[in-house]
Amino acid sequence: MEFRTLVEAARTCRRFHEDKPLSMADLEWLVECARLSPSGRNAQELRFILVGQGETCQKLFALTRWAGALKDWGGPHPGERPTAFIVVLAPEGGKEVHCWDTGIACQTIQLAATSKGWGCCMIQSFDHQAVPALLEIPQGMKPALVLGLGVAKEERRVAPMPENGSFSYWRDAEQVHYVPKRDVDELVVKRY
Ligand SMILES: Cc1cc2nc3c(=O)[nH]c(=O)nc-3n(C[C@H](O)[C@H](O)[C@H](O)COP(=O)(O)O)c2cc1C
Repeated sequence: MEFRTLVEAARTCRRFHEDKPLSMADLEWLVECARLSPSGRNAQELRFILVGQGETCQKLFALTRWAGALKDWGGPHPGERPTAFIVVLAPEGGKEVHCWDTGIACQTIQLAATSKGWGCCMIQSFDHQAVPALLEIPQGMKPALVLGLGVAKEERRVAPMPENGSFSYWRDAEQVHYVPKRDVDELVVKRY
C-alpha cells in the first residue's frame, strides 16, 4: 500500500471480527515493528504486555472505555470485541520522553496493524488502578496506553472539518465511522 494511503486507512478501529482472533505471533510481529521505532536517547525503556484472546483479554476489555464521543454506544458489542491487547508500559515517574516514545511506538503498531488488515484502538481511558493489578505489572512500571486489536470490521473514513469547527467523530445511519481532519493550511502556521 502506498504510504499516504496506509496512513489514511489507519483510523482508530473499535469493531472487530471476534471470530478471527489475532495470534500471539501476530502480537509479537507488532512489537517487532515497535522495537525498531525511534526512542529518546535510544534508551528503549518501554515494555509490552501481550494479551491474546481468552479470559485475561475479556477482563482487560471490561476495564477499558471506548468512544466517549458516541453517547449512544457503550463500546464494542459481543462478537465485535478486540481479540487481543498490547499494553505499553513506561517507567513510573512520568518523564516527558516516555510519552513521546509511547506515541511513536503506538503509531508504529497502528500502522503495522493496518498494513495487515487489522484494526487498533489506542486507549488512555482505562482503569489505571485495576489494570496493573490484573496484569501483575512489574514494580517501577505503569501502563501508559492500552491498544485494543483485532481483524478490522468497521468502515472508517476521513472527513473534512465541519463548518462549526467540531472535531468530534461520528457515525452515519449505516454505521460508517467518520473522523474530521484539519487541512494542511490550517496546521501549517508559517512558511519561510
Ligand atoms: C493518546 C490517545 C488516547 C486515546 N484514548 C482513547 C480511549 O480511551 N478510548 C477510545 O475509544 N479512543 C481513544 N483514542 C482514539 C481517539 O479517539 C482517536 O485517535 C481520535 O478520535 C481520532 O481518530 P483517528 O485515530 O481515527 O484519527 C485515543 C487516541 C490517542 C492518540
